[in-house]
Amino acid sequence: MFKVFVFDDYEGVSQKAFEVMQEVIKQEKVTLGLATGSSPVGLYKRLVEAHKKGLSFKHIQTFNLDEYVGLSKNHDQSYYNFMFEHLFKHVDVNLNKVHLPKGEGSLEDVASEYEDMLQKNPQDIQLLGIGSNGHIGFNEPGTSFDSTVHVVRLRDETRQDNARFFDSIDEVPHFAITMGIKDILRAKKILLVASGQNKAMAIKEMLEGKIREEVPCTILQNHPDVVVVLDKAAASLIKHD
Ligand code: F6R
Repeated sequence: MFKVFVFDDYEGVSQKAFEVMQEVIKQEKVTLGLATGSSPVGLYKRLVEAHKKGLSFKHIQTFNLDEYVGLSKNHDQSYYNFMFEHLFKHVDVNLNKVHLPKGEGSLEDVASEYEDMLQKNPQDIQLLGIGSNGHIGFNEPGTSFDSTVHVVRLRDETRQDNARFFDSIDEVPHFAITMGIKDILRAKKILLVASGQNKAMAIKEMLEGKIREEVPCTILQNHPDVVVVLDKAAASLIKHD
């Protein structure tokens, strides 16, 4: 079931997402599912500000959605580095309790170990962005709804969307390792944030489209608790009553 909130701009989106996330963090023992990309940056900024005012992350463990294959933890554009720079280094989270799938080594082993940890530690909340093609995590169109942690070949449109973070498109990895759809759906609550016109079609599909593997986000219609936080542009194609 979706609860949809629409704000004028990215700041409004980030503030609402922060409020939802903060409620969960205030609980006693918390497992957060986290995401990277542009969408959660404003939320992470607010979490860091809240930490300075006393919000603690000591009791938190985290599991990120995905990581690029072939980038070491310390690479500028690795998702570990993204999380470290935007959140982890600024708060009192125990770094032994933050988890991302590793994009190096035996990926089969990485995938089965990460899957095992996820099954033992279901997320209290899973934060999601959304791809312009409807991907969630890096579950690209056509991914099985039964998928668990797996390696994925990134679509051209995804590599192009993410090229802005790299010196050139040639440097964007072709593969990533990601939580599967089944792992995402295990979360008690899902918080999806999106802003900008290029997300409008994916958002419309997610809320109103037929549930199908060609558009991965449509499966969220089957989850009991999805909070969707949008700016006006991302919400612009949604039907109004
Ligand atoms: C990130 C992730 C991706 C992004 C999506 C949107 O960990 O799994 O699904 O959430 O590609 O990216 P942005 O927010 O950069 O538009």
